[in-house]
Amino acid sequence: MRQFTEDTLTDEVVARLEDVKDPRFKQLMTSLIQNLHAFAKDVELTEEEWFEAIKFLTAVGQKCDGKRQEFILLSDVLGLSMMTVAINHKTEPGATEATVLGPFYAHGAREFGYGGDLREGATLKGEDVWVSGRVMSVDGTPIPGAMLDIWQAKADGIYDLQTDGEFELRGRVKANEKGEYAFKSYKPKFYSIPIDGPVGDLVRATGNHHMRPAHMHAIVSAPGYQQVITHVFVEGDPYLDGDAVFAVKDSLIAKYERLADADAKKLGLPAGSLRLDFDFRLSADKAGAKQARQKIAASDAVA
Ligand code: BEZ
Ligand code: FE
Repeated sequence: MRQFTEDTLTDEVVARLEDVKDPRFKQLMTSLIQNLHAFAKDVELTEEEWFEAIKFLTAVGQKCDGKRQEFILLSDVLGLSMMTVAINHKTEPGATEATVLGPFYAHGAREFGYGGDLREGATLKGEDVWVSGRVMSVDGTPIPGAMLDIWQAKADGIYDLQTDGEFELRGRVKANEKGEYAFKSYKPKFYSIPIDGPVGDLVRATGNHHMRPAHMHAIVSAPGYQQVITHVFVEGDPYLDGDAVFAVKDSLIAKYERLADADAKKLGLPAGSLRLDFDFRLSADKAGAKQARQKIAASDAVA
């Protein structure tokens, strides 16, 4: 056939995938084409609207560089990141729930042992906090030497990657032989997702807010266990309802409590410092191959 109508075009585009060898690629492309065509028909897409969409996607691409990932941000605000997390992480009861990676993960953070100080070199001060807990299997067995890759925004709500400076408030913290970890940091504050690009324009056009509740990020991994990409949120934060990227889970909300002054002193922290206790529980890695695909490759997070 040479000539196609609104009713025959979709089947013809799909038919041209006939010789595709990789069955998964074929499935993905078939569904993508069918759903895109269905969308265009559903809304009776005008040529002006499609051109506007192309201009928008072009701007998203042009905003990306070695430190800025506008496509991850777009996926986040459309809820596609959390949909993908939900599909792929049907957490076993008792395991720490996964949530979005976000655009500010960076490889190569400095490694710290038990009690390491992630505040070192920070250009802004915040409320000092002793963060500690255990990394365990779902049945409560400690996981010695588990690795926690931690990152969070500075006190002004800006990530180090958003400026020209060095890494700040990030570190790879290794749990001790009892599976216990601890580090010093600052209490995170709520912040705005980056809105100086096309995704910001999109959020404003929808009338939604662009705030994220306070959180620290963690990727927790250990050989033989499923890696979890997650956050720990601050109890009482005003943006827990309505997170701009839909990433909040009740099980990830934790309380920051005041440390007794004597305990703060013993830990080398000033009077008035806070503590956060949070345990991470990992599922055994039963699906090694699938999991391996999901682990972040060196260049995935920051293009
Ligand atoms: C973040 O938590 O770093 C983040 C996640 C999604 C979009 C923007 C920021
Ligand atoms: Fe964040």
